[in-house]
Amino acid sequence: MKIAITGKGGVGKTTLSGTMACILSKTYKVFAIDADPDMNLASSLGIHTEIIPISRMRDLIKERTGAEPGSAFGEVFKMNPQISDLPESLSVKYDASDNLRILVMGTVEKGGEGCICPASVLLKALMRNLILKKDELVILDMEAGIEHLGRRTAEAVDMMIIVVEPGLKSLETAERINKLATDIGIKRIMAVINKVSNQEEEKFVSQKLEKLDLEVLGSIPRDETVVMADMEGKPLALYPDSKAFKSIEEIVENILI
Ligand SMILES: Nc1ncnc2c1ncn2[C@@H]1O[C@H](COP(=O)(O)OP(=O)(O)OP(=O)(O)O)[C@@H](O)[C@H]1O
Ligand SMILES: [Mg+2]
Repeated sequence: MKIAITGKGGVGKTTLSGTMACILSKTYKVFAIDADPDMNLASSLGIHTEIIPISRMRDLIKERTGAEPGSAFGEVFKMNPQISDLPESLSVKYDASDNLRILVMGTVEKGGEGCICPASVLLKALMRNLILKKDELVILDMEAGIEHLGRRTAEAVDMMIIVVEPGLKSLETAERINKLATDIGIKRIMAVINKVSNQEEEKFVSQKLEKLDLEVLGSIPRDETVVMADMEGKPLALYPDSKAFKSIEEIVENILI
């Protein structure tokens, strides 16, 4: 299964991606991919050494796509680069168990509509052509907002999770993501509500999501432990008794049903 985590800026995508990756790595071999140019998935997992993003691996990009990273729009390069070895060879081990590996994509060049760059072609090919074994799973921590949907980097995922928080802004972004993701053919699009302080907030967001026809996988309370873990540079998974962690465990159960 390939799962992409999306949503407005700051709603908790990276927290959810990283924590889900940790939980799922108990039963699956997980590839957690940081597809956000403003990379911080590794750090949210407590890895603070520098990981060289794939987009900066000039030789690799040249070898696989035939183009220099950041090459100009219109340059001809291979649209179907060979990728099957990349998750294993380019990822960083999370711990000794080696059930969780992290891949950092890095900055994808932006441009006009329809613009594609070698690094985004590589990620797209990875999503589309990577054949996962039964016990393997990919989690993609996406860039905030909707721009990546225009580049279709996550078009081949099996499931897109849109994270929302109490308030209309993230719901408006969710509505746009839902529409664009449907347009590019993503079948399972669901929502997770994060940073919920009380029942009124949860009810407010749930009702809005129902109107958008978005099924809710679960909600995560606003939890000081998340902030503390972030300040300490530690993964939330180190606090298995926290409310936020327990709700993410429930969300994972719902995904696996
Ligand atoms: N349930 C929660 N309770 C309290 N704080 C939270 C919760 N979830 C996330 N946060 C805090 O909100 C901030 C943003 O979280 P996170 O980085 O996971 O969001 P993001 O959607 O990945 O952001 P970006 O769009 O910048 O990538 C962090 O400071 C994090 O600690
Ligand atoms: Mg993030």
